[in-house]
Amino acid sequence: MPSRIRVDVTKKQNAIHPFLYGQFIEFLGRCINGGIHDPDSPLSDADGFRLDVLEKVKGLNPPLLRFPGGTVVKIYHWMDGVGPKEERKRQANRIWGGVIDHAFGTNEFIQYCRKIGAEPFLVVNMTTGTPEEAADWVEYCNGTGDTYYANLRRSHGFEEPHNVKYWGLGNEEAAVPDIGYLHDPKEYVKAAWEFAKHMKLADRSIKLVLPGDKPEWNKAVLDELHPVCDYLSLHYYASSLNGDGAEYFSHAAKLEKRIAETRELLAEYPARVENFDRWYRFPPRQREIRIALDEWGIWQIGNSDDYVRDMETVYNWRDALLVASMLNVMQRQSGAVTMATFAQMVNILAPIFTNEQGSFLQTIYHPLKLYREHSGNWKLSCETDSAMLTDGEGKPSAVPCLDVSATYHDGREEIVLAVVNRDPSRPAKAVVSFTGADVPEIAEAIELTCPSWETVNGFGLDDQVTCTVKTDARHDADGGYVFPPRSITLLKHRSA
Ligand code: AHR
Repeated sequence: MPSRIRVDVTKKQNAIHPFLYGQFIEFLGRCINGGIHDPDSPLSDADGFRLDVLEKVKGLNPPLLRFPGGTVVKIYHWMDGVGPKEERKRQANRIWGGVIDHAFGTNEFIQYCRKIGAEPFLVVNMTTGTPEEAADWVEYCNGTGDTYYANLRRSHGFEEPHNVKYWGLGNEEAAVPDIGYLHDPKEYVKAAWEFAKHMKLADRSIKLVLPGDKPEWNKAVLDELHPVCDYLSLHYYASSLNGDGAEYFSHAAKLEKRIAETRELLAEYPARVENFDRWYRFPPRQREIRIALDEWGIWQIGNSDDYVRDMETVYNWRDALLVASMLNVMQRQSGAVTMATFAQMVNILAPIFTNEQGSFLQTIYHPLKLYREHSGNWKLSCETDSAMLTDGEGKPSAVPCLDVSATYHDGREEIVLAVVNRDPSRPAKAVVSFTGADVPEIAEAIELTCPSWETVNGFGLDDQVTCTVKTDARHDADGGYVFPPRSITLLKHRSA
């Protein structure tokens, strides 16, 4: 029996925010130092940016970049990363080991964002930092008046404000930490309200991202802080700890479930807040609270005692199929998730891998680039009935072979079906039908595939991922289309 994909084109369900395809960088191992920034490398430009990496980042075209962490925000003080480079301190990275030399600080981050066309998203230190320090950072970045921190930025060579709109109030604060004290939601609420006030009084237009966690934490935080919460953050890392067969792909369903549960909780809060019960000189939230999936990716727990080195994972094609499935989840849940940053961009759990001589594209780079480049900007409703993946002994698993999301691109007038066939060895035929429009013919099929689930890329190898663009692909007489084994296909339909 062929699978079925039914797409309803009568209604564009919601806009898909381009921020879904964002990226994240942290002072963790070789993500920033030795990854995107390496002033001593012959491969870097005069600003110290690795040019080979920059070119690959531009291929990903992230519309949003999150910095400086991650857990490292607990020890990060932004003033250490501005001003003359020779005066910047060499700080022991007590979170991840090694040294933060602060050669890459706020202004270098903003310069990088401008080079790649990304909006900056900064996360403040609520553990060893103060509300005043965070507000000073807002003033340094966004201030336009004749004030100390705005003038300090000007004295550092940046006359125009950086206009940083998105600010995270801490990171994973619910986690019982090695350092920090905010994991009791009452403590977090108390601290976050102070941070929110100070920062909003420095710039009332900024948008705040509050760290989420389990439902109880989310509820406790939102009950108190929903008037100033623009985004609730979720983090999701897949791993093969519970198996690396068909069940590996169940991470996509788990992610979707977490998003759906969070979405339900968010619906309990008003879409806009009329008034604070006390008077403040900034307006409360005027829009629904959205989800920021501001760390997501695949984190295979290594078995060496160098866990940072273990995070320099080399990803295989099965991982890339999971990344594509997770992108499908985000597109399907794009009514609630309007911001996501992949963790992380270079070397650490990342799609781009460097050494001193060069860099290569990991398998997972390809779906990240493909979806960013070709997905539509509206979500379409889509139902899929698929055969199930089988386990090693041929028994069906609970995981469907095909995973699909459907979008509409209103500039290109295209219906784009993103179809992942996760079966390692068998093609999957699906009959595609459209409600509300004549079945448009396929204009283009873009197909990514690889020799096996286990295939990896590496230094000295040609890229093992094949991208084929077919302009002559057609549905058969019944609307059927055959998706190759272990493939990611974007089927673009344009009305005649
Ligand atoms: O991305 C690596 C780490 O994972 C981040 O620092 C932290 O937020 C998460 O636990």
